[in-house]
Order: sequence, then structure tokens, then C-alpha cells
Amino acid sequence: MKKKYKLKKKVKVLLTFIICITIITSVIVISTTKDTTKKVLTPEQKEIKKMKKIPYYKEKNKKRYLAYQEEKKDLPIEDVVMHVNIGIDKPYYTNTKKATNLNETPLLVNKYYYLTEDYVPENLEEISLSYARSGMQLVHEAKEAFETLSEEAKKEGMNIIAMSSYRSYEYQVDLYNRYVETDGKEAADTYSARAGYSEHQTGLAVDVYNKELPYTSFEQTEEFTWMQENAYKYGFILRFPKDKVNITGYQYESWHYRYVGEEVAEYIHKNNLTLEEYYVKELEN
Ligand code: DAL
Ligand code: ZN
Repeated sequence: MKKKYKLKKKVKVLLTFIICITIITSVIVISTTKDTTKKVLTPEQKEIKKMKKIPYYKEKNKKRYLAYQEEKKDLPIEDVVMHVNIGIDKPYYTNTKKATNLNETPLLVNKYYYLTEDYVPENLEEISLSYARSGMQLVHEAKEAFETLSEEAKKEGMNIIAMSSYRSYEYQVDLYNRYVETDGKEAADTYSARAGYSEHQTGLAVDVYNKELPYTSFEQTEEFTWMQENAYKYGFILRFPKDKVNITGYQYESWHYRYVGEEVAEYIHKNNLTLEEYYVKELEN
């Protein structure tokens, strides 16, 4: 009886021992397997992981993001992704594409998106001589909005007059060539678009002056202050702001306004964006 009891106890101890060993081995196996699947990320992979959280991240631009980040070490990660998506990691007029949203009001034309030689916008109409020099045309919707804007400014004693608006491809060829002859290509490229790359060809852009000072002095006028406060309410944005030269690729132009429609203009104005940034954030995705 005692022997039987002893045997039972031995079996019990043995079983407990086996169970313990099994548990310990399982724990060891599980923890070591976990360790090997836990990937150690390289610094580049870590950066990409952060970039992927940005809503306008594009997988196809991955290599360009990393190369641009290497070049611009202090640039915040959002700007790295934004700049590459705009295209400014590559020299101007390289990697160009045909503009995609033709005949739409937020149509993007810049040093990377061009209009073909034969592109003429639909519904071009002449702006009333009360608000423009003769022969100035804009796309119907932009023309109506510009006339309303100019009329409202007039009620407050101001003159906002269109001095350049729709320009054909051929016109831009001549204009750009004249600037190149005068100032050289490098300088001309800072303030004039090459033919096909001017948003004046969209029929949605307008240069203004106040009839008294030359358009290049528009910033000094009360009309400019009025435009700063009100242009967006009529669907226009200041297209080449002072603090966004690196994004637009053009020097500051206080006189150049672009019709994008009221909703888009308000969004761009309130968020201090350029059309390029709006395009990446809201249209391209
Ligand atoms: N001055 C602007 C950039 C144009 O030539 O279209
Ligand atoms: Zn202009």
C-alpha cells in the first residue's frame, strides 16, 4: 500500500516536472520567434514609415523623397513630400507633363504642367472696358467674377483694371523671347513663363493695375490692400506670393491674380496655400 502510494507520488512529481519543462520551453520558443520577426528598421525605412502617414504620400515617389530629404536635411518631412509631389526636387522645365484638368477652374499650369500650342480655353469673353484695357479676355466665369470684383472695388473709390489677361501660345512666345533678349534667359525665367507654361494661356489669370501707377508698383496701392482682403471672395487668389517663391518658381507678383472659383479661393486664402499645394493636397489624390 505504501509502495503504491510512493509510486503515485513519483508519477505526480514526474508529470509536474514534464508540464513545467513544456511551459518553459514554449515560453522560450515563443519569445525567440517573436524576436526574430521584430524587424529592425533602417533609418531610411523609419523615415518612409513616418512619411506614409502624410495623406498625400505617394509610393512611386519613395526614392525621390529620400534623395530630396538627403539634400534638404532641415526641411520638415511634410514639406519634403509636398515639394517632391509638386516636382521641385527636379529642375524647372524637366519632368514636365501635360496639364490634366483642362477647362476646369483650378487648372494647374506651371513649370511642370504645360498647355499645348493649340490649347485655347472655351468661352473666352472680352472684359468690359469699365474694368479693363481694350481687348482683354477671360473665360466667361472668370470674366463675370472679375467684373463684379472690380465693380465692388469701384464702389469704394478704387480702380482695379485688367491690363493683361488671356494670352495665346504665340503671344507668350514673343513676350518671353523679348524678355530673354533684354535680361537673358536666367533672369527672364524668374518672372516670365515660357510659352505653354503660362497660366495666362488658361484664360483664368489677370494682371491688374490702378491706372495711376505702373502695374509693377501695384503693391504700393490701396487697391492692392483691398485685393489682399477681398479677392478670394470673388474667386481670385494672389498666384505668386512673396513667401512662396520656392514653390511657384516665380518672383513675387503683386499684380497677378488667378481665378480658381470662390470655394477653392477661400480655402487657399485661409490656409495660406499656393495652387501647387492645393493641387497636391486636394486634387491629385
Ligand atoms: N508672369 C507670369 C509668370 C507669366 O508669364 O505667366
Ligand atoms: Zn500675369
